[in-house]
Amino acid sequence: MKSQVDNALPRSIILQALTGHVPDRTPVWMMRQAGRYLPEYRALRAKAGDFLSLCYNPDYATEVTLQPIRRFNFDAAILFSDILVVPHALGMGLTFEAGEGPRLDPMKNINDLNRLSRTLDTARTGPVFEAVAKIRASLPAETALLGFCGAPWTVATYMIAGRGTPDQAPARLASMMDPAFFDALLDRLVEVSADYLLGQLEAGADAVQIFDSWSGVLDPESFVRCTIRPISRLVGLVRAKRPEARIIAFPKGATLAGLTRLVEASGVDAVGLDWTADRPAVRRAVGGKVALQGNLDPLALIAGGASLDAAIDALLADLRGAAHIFNLGHGIRPETPIAHVEQMLRRVRGY
Ligand code: CP3
Repeated sequence: MKSQVDNALPRSIILQALTGHVPDRTPVWMMRQAGRYLPEYRALRAKAGDFLSLCYNPDYATEVTLQPIRRFNFDAAILFSDILVVPHALGMGLTFEAGEGPRLDPMKNINDLNRLSRTLDTARTGPVFEAVAKIRASLPAETALLGFCGAPWTVATYMIAGRGTPDQAPARLASMMDPAFFDALLDRLVEVSADYLLGQLEAGADAVQIFDSWSGVLDPESFVRCTIRPISRLVGLVRAKRPEARIIAFPKGATLAGLTRLVEASGVDAVGLDWTADRPAVRRAVGGKVALQGNLDPLALIAGGASLDAAIDALLADLRGAAHIFNLGHGIRPETPIAHVEQMLRRVRGY
């Protein structure tokens, strides 16, 4: 995190937290805040026909991104898109089957990698960057706009398996059986993801988040190879062009030791914690160096009632006085009642 002696306080309390300040009130947004738990999302999704048509139509993507802001006034909007836009823009086939998640043609070896483009197809990224500019122009100055990409490891797991799997065995096996292919794939993803994040920052994103949703299946050595090194290189490439870029890493399932090493090696401004994190221990280890984002269990938001209030109070008490951005420990689930989101916001804002 950079020293703040020189800068005026940003208007966005998310950016305040990302620049090492402790805001007057705790900023809050939710991973997957635009999505199927909202009837207005389901209606537009039905009109668009399928998920990717939402992502690649700048007007639809803008509208969907703004829906949860209008309804709940979150402190950040997150670009509506998907991490798999990057392999798609390298030339991989991509479809989303209703209720089944993404499908790509699995990559088997270096020949498959060599057939992919070395740069992102602007026909795919153009509409995304256009959406970023439209969204930024529609938001009040105090609402931050977050861009994002998948971390190289997490994107590689889907490219190698062609779909989600319970433990990413195909990608872990490739890392053992064909290290030359596997490491070349991570390298390629580092480079194109840097371009992708830079495009979003150029278009008006205030900060970006790197989603490493599958870092929790890695042993400690593989965590260095697959999560820490690629994310650190990615951050370095982005900062080489935009030294002031604000970057959040979300290494889901990382151990305390892994999280600490990631913070030290990568220079990110914040880390996202999943709901299993030992908050006091994380705070002691890295709370003085980066902002902490998280980490309400998405199931607590389904449960609602007194248990939701208690979970929120415990979370806020653990991170009081820290640069904390309130969020869930993973994306909100489609079955979550909207009334529970409202309850959460009242509790956080009234704390
Ligand atoms: O957070 C946001 O609101 C921004 C939009 C966003 C989506 N996906 C929309 C989406 C973001 C940041 C993502 C990231 C993403 N996509 C990740 C990393 C974060 C995580 O959740 O771990 C991953 C692993 C993906 C890949 C992906 N996309 C999967 C596995 C699925 C299917 C699972 C599911 O929830 O249906 C998607 C589809 C997807 N991405 C949906 C949304 C709203 C649901 C699509 C629909 O409307 O049917």
